[in-house]
Amino acid sequence: MLSLPLFAHSGRSSVTCEYRCGNACAHEAPNTSDNEYFGDVAKGVLSRRGVFKAGAVMTAAAGGFAALSGTPAAAASPVALTKPGRPVPGTDFAPVAPNTADALVVPPGFRQNVVIRWGDPVVPGAPAFDPAKQTAAAQAKQFGYNNDFVGLIPTGHNSYFMVVNHEYTTEVQMFPSYDANNPTREQVEIAWAAHGLSVVQVEKDREGGLKVVPSRYGRRITLDTGFEVRGPAAGSQYLKTSADPSGRRVRGTQNNCSGGVTPWGTVLSGEENFHQYFANADKVTDPVAQARLKRYGVGTGTSTRKWERFDKRWDVAQEPNEPNRFGWVVEIDPNDPHSTPVKHTALGRFKHEAANIKITGDGRVAVYSGDDERFDYIYKFVSKGKYKPGTSTHARRHNMALLDEGTLYVAKFTGDSPGEIDGTGKLPSDGEFDGTGEWLPLASGDKSFVDGFTAEEVYVFTRLAADKAGATKMDRPEDIEPNPVNGRIYAALTNNSDRGAAGKAGADEVNPRNGNKNGHILEWEEVHGDAASTKFSWRLLLVCGDPATADTYFGGFPKNQVSPISCPDNVAFDPYGNLWISTDGNALGSNDGLFSVPVAGPERGHVKQFLTVPIGAETCGPVVTRDFVVVAVQHPGENGTPSAPTSHWPDGGTSPARPAVVSVWRD
Ligand code: FEO
Ligand code: CA
Ligand code: CA
Repeated sequence: MLSLPLFAHSGRSSVTCEYRCGNACAHEAPNTSDNEYFGDVAKGVLSRRGVFKAGAVMTAAAGGFAALSGTPAAAASPVALTKPGRPVPGTDFAPVAPNTADALVVPPGFRQNVVIRWGDPVVPGAPAFDPAKQTAAAQAKQFGYNNDFVGLIPTGHNSYFMVVNHEYTTEVQMFPSYDANNPTREQVEIAWAAHGLSVVQVEKDREGGLKVVPSRYGRRITLDTGFEVRGPAAGSQYLKTSADPSGRRVRGTQNNCSGGVTPWGTVLSGEENFHQYFANADKVTDPVAQARLKRYGVGTGTSTRKWERFDKRWDVAQEPNEPNRFGWVVEIDPNDPHSTPVKHTALGRFKHEAANIKITGDGRVAVYSGDDERFDYIYKFVSKGKYKPGTSTHARRHNMALLDEGTLYVAKFTGDSPGEIDGTGKLPSDGEFDGTGEWLPLASGDKSFVDGFTAEEVYVFTRLAADKAGATKMDRPEDIEPNPVNGRIYAALTNNSDRGAAGKAGADEVNPRNGNKNGHILEWEEVHGDAASTKFSWRLLLVCGDPATADTYFGGFPKNQVSPISCPDNVAFDPYGNLWISTDGNALGSNDGLFSVPVAGPERGHVKQFLTVPIGAETCGPVVTRDFVVVAVQHPGENGTPSAPTSHWPDGGTSPARPAVVSVWRD
């Protein structure tokens, strides 16, 4: 439907693939370990399929409601059983049809506004955006590029801190004259300033949407902001560089994809596709170092953006440890615009999509995070210390140290329908893709559980340790979040075109389709609903794609009543416990969008499209409250340039597209 140069791997254009992840899909998947799936075993005792089929009333999970899932605190109520065909609370809207409009399309009866766009002021005193006269100094005070995660932290009645990730820059779209072979220093420094995060204050206006208000809390975090490294690998030999012989001070954060709001009012943000910014990994001769760089896909030869010409830290041949200083979960405290943000080494180093917290049965914190790469893994960290409720300075200081020490695990999934998974997506005879699972410990404090790895090596080279531990190779784990109402955990597996390819891992029950183009949604619950448990049962809630095809599954809901959905990326929950899913790379020919799906009762699996984003964009961010929905529209008009835009959203006319955050509310 769109005549864009598409990669075969998804609906994304070649420009997005190059600038976002350095064409990761065009390269060999970095996990070439012989860590093979051990095969399906007989049905485990934990499977409780009957419970879900019966559509039991959900109960509130211990430990917190919406504030834990990135949505503002709101009294969550159990979802009442409803009659078939009647929308459950929170999903009462007419679905938006798939389309390719250059607009953000919402259901009838809803309104929308742009909250903030690339270039809008963030820091007090920021100059007005002038696309023809961009400077790094201006960009460092303005809203950055390619907004992804959005976190809202309540600061009062209808007032919030809004923290937004700026995942990456698309220089060909940003600069009126850009020569990819010869970027200027100013362009490179603008790009450094356009990465990172923005903190702004927003309020609900009279109309019902969010608007930015002037605030002394306005802050930009960029590739020049100083970070403190904390946790067991702080000061590690693998983190030391000529600019930082301590291995404890890192300049900047990058590729902040998704994230999560902590119960103590800070934001966690995942450093994802950091590998692409580095050059010359092939010039490292030490075979051990070489293997580590390769497992993370760190760039060889010159890099796409040529930053190595302007700062030697991007040249691995000169600074072999600099890549090890990225790939962490970072924590930002919006309550203090002068606070030093933190890199948390206890959560391991990989291509973190996001990080979301659930409180364990005994009051500790569990953090779930996916490694977004074909055949990579799902991780959990459980803190040693316990969460202290409250907002006192003492409680906040205590809580902000919780992620410094604990145990890091990786997930192993076992199906319960052995021998029945043929890679086509055909359901096994027990009616579900489901089974049991186990969290394999990798390290705890300074103790390693992986043969041949010190604890320090587990934290810094987590992917290799997880290979050794025997984790399950997944179809690109993206966002993972606990449902604040039912306590179960939900993960988006976005796609994996290489599943079942020659020499690659084939389909298994938790990744049941070979050549998986459309992705799936995984749901699990740990024993007794306790996030500290190391055992769980799981099932696929959705096997995404065209509902008219046999290889899709919508939680058992009639497929002729659902919206098509492809390439799930971010997940969120409304205060009723409904799952909301945003997509990236729709392989069905429509623009990407945001979808709701109840997870309990007769409507379980009833996917409905709430909005679509403009041409070329992916849908990010989502925050869903009782009153409004917020989405980040990332890379609208991908493949365009300022002189030949492929989208004119959001400013209209002949303007080039600008990434922006949007709020939507019922009129
Ligand atoms: Fe930046 Fe995994 O998406
Ligand atoms: Ca099964
Ligand atoms: Ca994402």
